[in-house]
Amino acid sequence: MCGIVGFIGKKRAAPVLAKNLKKLEYRGYDSAGIATLAKGSFHLLRCAGPVAGLRGGGMLAGTCGIGHTRWATHGAPSEENAHPHIYGRFAVVHNGIIENYHALKEECEKRGEAFSSQTDSEVIAHLLERYYMGELLEALRAVCARLRGSYALAVMCANEPETIALAREKSPLIAGYSDGGTVCASDIPAVAKQGAELYAIEDGECAVMKKERITFYGMGGGEIDKSPLAFDPETEAPYRCGFPHFMKKEMAEIPAVLKAARPNLGDFRYEAFYEALCRAEHLQIAACGTAYHAGLAAKFAFESLARVRTEVSVASEYRYCDPIVPDGTLMLAISQSGETADTIAAARLAKERGAKVVAIVNAESSSLAALADYVIPVRAGREIAVAATKTFNAQLAALYSIAASLAEYRKKRGYGDVLAQLPGLAEAALAAGEGVRSWVPYFVGASSVYFIGRGADYVAALEGCLKLKEISYLPSEGYPAGELKHGTLALVEKNTPVVAVLTSRRLAEKMMSAIEEVRARGAKVFLITSLCEYAVAEGVTLSVVVPECGEIFSPALSVIPLQQLAYYVSIARGNNPDKPRNLAKSVTVE
Ligand code: AGP
Repeated sequence: MCGIVGFIGKKRAAPVLAKNLKKLEYRGYDSAGIATLAKGSFHLLRCAGPVAGLRGGGMLAGTCGIGHTRWATHGAPSEENAHPHIYGRFAVVHNGIIENYHALKEECEKRGEAFSSQTDSEVIAHLLERYYMGELLEALRAVCARLRGSYALAVMCANEPETIALAREKSPLIAGYSDGGTVCASDIPAVAKQGAELYAIEDGECAVMKKERITFYGMGGGEIDKSPLAFDPETEAPYRCGFPHFMKKEMAEIPAVLKAARPNLGDFRYEAFYEALCRAEHLQIAACGTAYHAGLAAKFAFESLARVRTEVSVASEYRYCDPIVPDGTLMLAISQSGETADTIAAARLAKERGAKVVAIVNAESSSLAALADYVIPVRAGREIAVAATKTFNAQLAALYSIAASLAEYRKKRGYGDVLAQLPGLAEAALAAGEGVRSWVPYFVGASSVYFIGRGADYVAALEGCLKLKEISYLPSEGYPAGELKHGTLALVEKNTPVVAVLTSRRLAEKMMSAIEEVRARGAKVFLITSLCEYAVAEGVTLSVVVPECGEIFSPALSVIPLQQLAYYVSIARGNNPDKPRNLAKSVTVE
């Protein structure tokens, strides 16, 4: 989380930095700041809140500068904790977490150095001041040797005009040529333009940016040659295209995404992956948040269609539970960004224990993709809204497709041509889902909301619940419908909204009993179903009917009205659905 940028060119740096920072706000917007360097002095502007608060920033002198948009980890989201941090001759922006900052800070304080923020990052500027012997890159290398944790760093020294030094360990960083000068950024969209040439800085590498040239180095050694990243400036550019929010635009893209996401495993590019898939004896899936829910949904497909044992773990738990990785394990690490620290760590651990790792990612040039043995891109296009929507559907389409190919190879259950029909069915689900607008008054002032389902419907319920929590801030819980009576039912009161997902004919009667149970306690039941006859069942307050696509694949469609519900409730509660409080799109810290 956090976005960093840097620029050196012929024009004023500050407007370029502010413009590029804005495109990184999906990484955090608790505070923002810019520092420029002109005639040996720093000019600093910082604010609490998003980049728009940097008023007058364009006036800062200097053609060289760095900037930051923050997702607070250490220290409140205030102006004093905003980056850049300046100490002595150094200005620093940092994305990541310095795990040993307490000890380092104490060390500096013993030397009589005063700190002006509560962040873990400020200590880097203090150390640079201590280790500087006349060469910025060498000072940065010496400082990095003292740091434990994760960092992407851009630093300037008042003694070295038109120079920015960069270093990376476990937090993303790219650098290259754009905007008529040299640039660096946490992610491609900040600097992606026609004609831009961008390079990924890898873990354990550093670089020096000058006005006309960037040189890349190993942390301990000499120069490194790099190949430029492939990217499409059109698709990287974050435009809303007339939609009121990115989230709305991204939901509208679901049908197209369902089509693009299915890998053609017959293609020679996937040959090695397909072989590994067919050889796999066990599947393990690790992911976080929405991607974890995609993994849970995929388990039904892998087990039911292909009869391969599949374990799904929250990545942050997997890495600390001493996982057993049997021979023949294929680890599917699912991540939109490919930069989620916990998912990367889980994948790395699985690899160390002998598994082959497949990265199911939207960002093809990501850290997760780089460490994986095989990469399956889900090709959903850039997702800007913090709440994941189209990428969930894309992950499902890719995973279902893989499961179906495996089932075919193992001559297990057939699945018809449902997957090919999903895009068209999703169009219908989107249209039907607009019906949830009439549900909004029942939710907007609710004190809690429950989402229930069974089997794959339970997974859709979990994802719908996460969406609602994330952007409406309503306390919500997703529950397996059969488990309610073992505790959660005690929380249901008169008018409590309960969203029930029902697409499984096999489980319909069981599900209706659970609906009866909550209704008897006064709940108002809102149903998302593909089974028309239940849409008008007694006790259902309002319902939305989505097309039928079979129990296993149903989350790809039933989740759509749930995403729409979260969107409309968020707006009705006066929130910005694209930028939920306290969150960031890409969680690059543990
Ligand atoms: C979903 O709406 C979230 N914003 C979040 O749960 C997200 O899915 C999670 O942080 C994982 O991100 P990733 O897919 O980039 O790894």
